Amino acid sequence: METLRLRPWSDDDLPLLRDANTPEMTAHLNGPESEQQVRDRHRRYLGLDPAEAKMFVVLDPQGTEVGAIGYWTVSWRDERAFETGWFVLPEAQGRGIASRALALLIEDARAHPAGLRHLVAFPGVGNAASNGVCRRAGFELVGSSAGEFRGFQLQSHEWALDLHPQSARLES
Ligand SMILES: CC(C)(COP(=O)(O)OP(=O)(O)OC[C@H]1O[C@@H](n2cnc3c(N)ncnc32)[C@H](O)[C@@H]1OP(=O)(O)O)[C@@H](O)C(=O)NCCC(=O)NCCS
Repeated sequence: METLRLRPWSDDDLPLLRDANTPEMTAHLNGPESEQQVRDRHRRYLGLDPAEAKMFVVLDPQGTEVGAIGYWTVSWRDERAFETGWFVLPEAQGRGIASRALALLIEDARAHPAGLRHLVAFPGVGNAASNGVCRRAGFELVGSSAGEFRGFQLQSHEWALDLHPQSARLES
């Protein structure tokens, strides 16, 4: 099995966001963003406070950038939770990279000092690949919801993973 690595977002990673900003890659995300929106996204990722949010580049075993994944704090069903999101470039898709990157991210989120209970994800209902990633990583499908995403209405599946099932059992 290939070993992947996650490394924190850096100054040099704007081209990766540009590579991911194609009609094909954004088919479930309301289409490509403008160059300015991509630059703003890059700056946002660089300025994240790790107490609240983290963005990573996914590196393949050769050290090539093949995707991105991150998590950030949200309000979800009356609790603070982490939400996650990701992409894998087309040439690297279909090899389990998103699933393995998510497994690494889950370890990071589990060790986060905030100790939040749930990691959640909201892929569009028609995004078979992303829903597949959630299922494969052990998330539970807990519902679906309509919400605004990048300025348009998106019907999403609602997936949740309990990051601390052991402590939940101890509490009860
Ligand atoms: C979603 C995405 C990251 C998947 O990356 P990937 O590395 O190809 O995914 P994996 O190889 O880890 O596949 C994970 C699971 O999804 C399934 N899957 C992958 N692509 C699929 C597809 N097109 N249709 C149905 N299932 C698919 C796989 O079979 C696998 O499940 P399995 O282990 O049960 O077989 C990639 O397609 C992508 O970047 N898409 C565009 C951006 C995007 O939509 N991001 C998510 C926004 S919520």
